Amino acid sequence: MRFDVLTLFPGLFPPYLDQGVLGRGIRDGLVSVEIHDIRDEGEGKHRTVDDVPFGGGAGMVMKPGPIVRWIRRLETDGARHTRVVLLSPQGPRLTNETAMRLAGEDRIILVCGRYEGIDDRVREHFVDEEVSIGDYVLTGGELPALVLLDVVSRFVPGVVGNDESVRSDSLYDGLLKYPQYTQPRDFEGIGVPDVLLSGDHGRIAAWRREATLRRTASLRPDLLDRAKLTESERAIFDASVHRNAGTHEHLGGGA
Ligand code: ADE
Repeated sequence: MRFDVLTLFPGLFPPYLDQGVLGRGIRDGLVSVEIHDIRDEGEGKHRTVDDVPFGGGAGMVMKPGPIVRWIRRLETDGARHTRVVLLSPQGPRLTNETAMRLAGEDRIILVCGRYEGIDDRVREHFVDEEVSIGDYVLTGGELPALVLLDVVSRFVPGVVGNDESVRSDSLYDGLLKYPQYTQPRDFEGIGVPDVLLSGDHGRIAAWRREATLRRTASLRPDLLDRAKLTESERAIFDASVHRNAGTHEHLGGGA
């Protein structure tokens, strides 16, 4: 799939996109990302991209022309199914479900806002959906665009080498991930659960499922409502919520 990012700060993107799992996915051609400077479609000699708000008030507002010209340029560039996503603190919050849905698109244009905002006609007439990464206001949509790029790319087949690792991640099935441990067995006197050293795959799987339920019950009981659990799993979950009431989760760190 392909992402086109519209931004006033194109230099913010390459360092993140070059590295790690995402960098490899891009080099392998599974995901392509093109970064475009909104100012290239700016207006007049100074390639102006913003102006004072009608009606007065603090700050500058991004003009519609440069952004809409970019969207049109990209959409006539042979792209049939392009979804235009505006990063904004006003949108619905990004979730794994949104990311999985977006991973099914051929092309996504990400519009990053700056300053006090974007002329609302862009949002109303040229954007398919708005996405927020949380209830706080960043100085621009660039970090949110990188967050979206990262989380959506993980659902593009092949980007994360081991499909199993995506499926066992926290929140994939609406629950948190079980705790993980590695060498050494004894770290400064702190051991690891014996069952993980037993080599008994059945017992390990059962322990992990229960740890997932206990951890979710303790840290994110709100996730229970939407999780798909068997009756016996729900009983474990309910017992954990009960036991944890007023105490701290005791399973250690991890995702
Ligand atoms: N731009 C500024 N804050 C944002 C947020 N929380 N999510 C998405 N875009 C933003």
